[in-house]
Amino acid sequence: MTKPRTGIKVRTGTNSRILGVGAYQPERIVPNSEVIEKIDSSDEWIRQRTGIETRHFAAADESVLDMAEAACRQALMRAKVSMEQIDTVILASITYPFQAPSAATALIARLGNPKAAAFDINAACAGFCYGVGMANDFVRAGTSQHVLVVGVEKLSDFLDPYDRGTAFIFADGAGAVVIGPSDEPGIGPTIWGADADSRDAILMEPSWNAFRHGAPEGVWPNISQKGQTVFRWAVFSMSKAGLRTLEAAGVTPDQLDAFIPHQANVRIIESMAREMKLPESVVIARDIRTSGNTSAASVPIAMSALLTEHPELHGGLALLIGYGAGLVYAGQVVQLPPKP
Ligand SMILES: CC(C)(COP(=O)(O)OP(=O)(O)OC[C@H]1O[C@@H](n2cnc3c(N)ncnc32)[C@H](O)[C@@H]1OP(=O)(O)O)[C@@H](O)C(=O)NCCC(=O)NCCS
Repeated sequence: MTKPRTGIKVRTGTNSRILGVGAYQPERIVPNSEVIEKIDSSDEWIRQRTGIETRHFAAADESVLDMAEAACRQALMRAKVSMEQIDTVILASITYPFQAPSAATALIARLGNPKAAAFDINAACAGFCYGVGMANDFVRAGTSQHVLVVGVEKLSDFLDPYDRGTAFIFADGAGAVVIGPSDEPGIGPTIWGADADSRDAILMEPSWNAFRHGAPEGVWPNISQKGQTVFRWAVFSMSKAGLRTLEAAGVTPDQLDAFIPHQANVRIIESMAREMKLPESVVIARDIRTSGNTSAASVPIAMSALLTEHPELHGGLALLIGYGAGLVYAGQVVQLPPKP
């Protein structure tokens, strides 16, 4: 008897969409005036060059898991989905300080569904959009029905407060979405990729500068970057990636309601909007002013803030795009979640 070579059963899923978004930012607001105590800079320079006015830093005993849990609970509540319904959790972070077990498994235990599939991803500031792309594919393929995607960072733990190139940029927080079944397609194709020849543009490695200034025992990794290299790459490449993302979804700039890019620098955001010729009617997230750059958390935090400020955007079309260390990027057009 010959063994069958085919006949494997496969699943098919449904269309998917974002059902709810949640965010958490630590209580402590840190103004530029505090950051510049340790670097030769000024409040005016930071505002002009980046758009940042304040950022949030977590408390010493506040962890990546604490922040992720808070954002996820809000996203679940707003989506009206229980944790028992979540079958997969994707956690994007570069600041969870343990390799294994994953932050995602610790998170599902805290949220009360320790049997869900759970894993971490590292795509730096693009991590959330990488996760949204995967979650969409999981639901569409029938691999999962409800996926929780969370981006979370405690970058203050990895900042060299004496580094003039990073100390004023990065910050802490978490943002999450619940992605689940939908009658209509609510998430367009993910356009993603890398430019690995520029892997040295943003690094998280031991910083001799921090060590010299009294880092505790051992050499703790710090984030460092070639600011101008990243700036030029983002301005040149990310508007093109944004246009390809729109094209893949069959959406024209004038059909968009919102643009929610990674919050790295307000000048990059403005330049992308200009290059893509987004009409004035498109509401642009500029959450960086009060949030700084929260890496994997920046897009969902900005999405949550935008919907609070502009409730009329619920259900509208938004272009998301994340980019960062690698260099890597990912974007998709999404239908924003319905009003909770
Ligand atoms: C980091 C960044 C704000 C620096 O701004 P920039 O305009 O490129 O600054 P430059 O390094 O060209 O320096 C310009 C001038 O500002 C000065 N400068 C640099 N850092 C400064 C600081 N923190 N405060 C005050 N002045 C500063 C420089 O000494 C230089 O002075 P000079 O003209 O007298 O020589 C900008 O490059 C940036 O945002 N890059 C993108 C980074 C990013 O998005 N990273 C995350 C991606 S996920």
